[in-house]
Amino acid sequence: MTIATFDDASRAVSAGTHVTDAARALVAAMTVDERLWCLDGDAPTWAGLGFLARNGYHKAPFLAAQVERIGLGGVAFSDGPRGAVVGNATCFPVPMARGATWDPELEERVGDAIGRELRALGANLTGAVCVNVLRHPAWGRAQETYGEDPHHVGEMGAALTRGLQRSVLACVKHFACNSMENARFSVDIEVDEVALHEVYLPHFKRIVDEGVASVMSAYNAVNGEWCGQSKALLTEVLRDEWGFEGFVISDWIFGLRDAATSLSAGLDIEMPYRMVRAQHLREALECGDASWADVDAAVERVVATLLRFDDVLSAPAPSIEVVGAPQHRALAREVASRSVILLRNEVVDGSPVLPFDRATRVAVVGRLADRVNIGDGGSSDVWDLECRTVIDGLRDRADHVVHDDGSDIDRAAAVAASADVAVVVVGYTYVDEGEYIGETDPSLPAMFPPGDEPHVADLFQAAISELPPTITPDRIAERPRGGFGIGGDRISLRLPDADVALIRAVAAANPRTIVAIQAGSAVVCSEWIDTVPAVVQAWYGGCEAGPGLADVLLGVMNPSARLPFSVPVDEADLPAFERHATTFRYDRWHGWWHLARQGRKAAFPFGFGLSYTTFALDGVEASLAHDVVVVRATVRNMGERHGADVVQIYAELPDRDAPARLVGFARVEVAAHSAATVAVTVPVDRLATRDAEQHAWRPAVGVHRFAVARFAGDPDALTVNVAI
Ligand code: BGC
Repeated sequence: MTIATFDDASRAVSAGTHVTDAARALVAAMTVDERLWCLDGDAPTWAGLGFLARNGYHKAPFLAAQVERIGLGGVAFSDGPRGAVVGNATCFPVPMARGATWDPELEERVGDAIGRELRALGANLTGAVCVNVLRHPAWGRAQETYGEDPHHVGEMGAALTRGLQRSVLACVKHFACNSMENARFSVDIEVDEVALHEVYLPHFKRIVDEGVASVMSAYNAVNGEWCGQSKALLTEVLRDEWGFEGFVISDWIFGLRDAATSLSAGLDIEMPYRMVRAQHLREALECGDASWADVDAAVERVVATLLRFDDVLSAPAPSIEVVGAPQHRALAREVASRSVILLRNEVVDGSPVLPFDRATRVAVVGRLADRVNIGDGGSSDVWDLECRTVIDGLRDRADHVVHDDGSDIDRAAAVAASADVAVVVVGYTYVDEGEYIGETDPSLPAMFPPGDEPHVADLFQAAISELPPTITPDRIAERPRGGFGIGGDRISLRLPDADVALIRAVAAANPRTIVAIQAGSAVVCSEWIDTVPAVVQAWYGGCEAGPGLADVLLGVMNPSARLPFSVPVDEADLPAFERHATTFRYDRWHGWWHLARQGRKAAFPFGFGLSYTTFALDGVEASLAHDVVVVRATVRNMGERHGADVVQIYAELPDRDAPARLVGFARVEVAAHSAATVAVTVPVDRLATRDAEQHAWRPAVGVHRFAVARFAGDPDALTVNVAI
């Protein structure tokens, strides 16, 4: 069968030809120019940048590898992860909030909804799967990942990938060790083999095993080489060791520095513009610095992936009505309420402060209470036009709600004093944490081309002149530059002074004061927590943040979320974080591992969260069969209300130098005064340790102690030994 077009290749695959053979045949039928065209984004640099400055991010997907002559559709990329970035899509709670649900099944539904909206909006590839582990809560983009633990992050990211890939290709990012924002264009992360493979890579591997179509390299360097041109990462680990068969794209604009090195390292598409490779690759090929075999291999990987996903991508896109559809908003609300963590709920005058009922007089205080506060203003921003605030949510559920913005503390305290309960809404916004594009390595702009190629600029101009309309939300129109990329890493993990003063004043005026924290990761609460009886972590909760929070505060939803990171008593209890580092060492110890090693108690441990009922564990047993350990436990609901608990399995390894590991978890619903049994399957290879000399995994042997717990370091954990 002759393969001269993408359709020919697709038919050949249906007739039994292997995708890689079909891809190879198609690439052989492409001209030199067509093959080179596939190695970077299809848009010109300068016109593309101009379009971005006019909010292009939200108006059209980024295109790459489209070759009309042979019917190669290529990719149309739009970001995530809290919804489709292009258009006016449904804004879901940020991934860190979703991580707090500890519910992969729910996350898969979110992926399915985002994927359908993306397809309806013209995208077929998304950067929604951001899984860099949270090494430190000051990381500006903490909200875009799921937490600090590789196993938990991997399971949540795999679930999102499953859901997305019913409609689009997913791209997992940023590979690897990208967890500092301000320094991302310049920092070199030094990390040894063991820390890299046991802490910073397992979640990427998990998502590769799930069948993710694409990987995005990171901006930073790892062990002396920029990730976008690191053979060690992109070829030796990703392809040779893990068997990844999809394609690799660069992070945007400064994601690679040298055309030839990036190609031989295994980076397939430079995104999003014709920038470094368009200027330098031909010359590198001519003088032998780059090889045509590598060009072909890269294009073949792109074509093979498109063939592998042909069923998904050639299925008709959902109609545009799916964008912001009522079912998606209902899902956003379910996730918002399921993500709110009850951190503290003390008894005042004989009853816990939460939940309160509809007739309660509620004073809501704070500048964030009537504001759409959905997180980062950079590449993950979602231009949802129907977002509901805390005030909106509470007004639906409670009959007497008054609001004070907290700008005058005495007035706010007086408002609080006249109510039955006071809810103080505090925290951060996109200005305090988020993606950062600001002062950076001054040598980078030299990578821009002197001008655009006229025919490419013409094509681009024609494409963007026919776009469907995207409405700019008022909140964006009010910001300078649309507020794009101005967050960066946090300067402190404390609340702003004004928030702390407001909490103290309101708490002094009303003994039933509840603090709701809006933030993308841990906030140190030690200086004020003893002054208030109730605290919830309420995140950047998406378009239904307010109603979701109200569901929890009024007890319509019994809280079941658990912390996806540790909240320290003091920032000094955490490993160092340097916003402007040029080199930085990552080791095995961060998050709950670091606290345990230092003997520091967390203010709120990883995995912790309260409910309006209480739970107890018993009946723990473990059995080993073939290559899996099955851990069983009974969860008892000791109270009057239906609720859900998250059973967490921590394994201690025989090697005392290795940190304990979260190796499994299960969220379980339990009716009041009843019990439910959970069985968590732990593949034995999850217990393997990395052998730095062999560059390979050392299989688990010996006695492993499993703690079945309700959070990291749970003193009531039940343990069981398993000999492997
Ligand atoms: C971000 C990526 C994002 C890309 C495209 C970059 O600046 O680091 O996370 O996917 O832009 O929007």
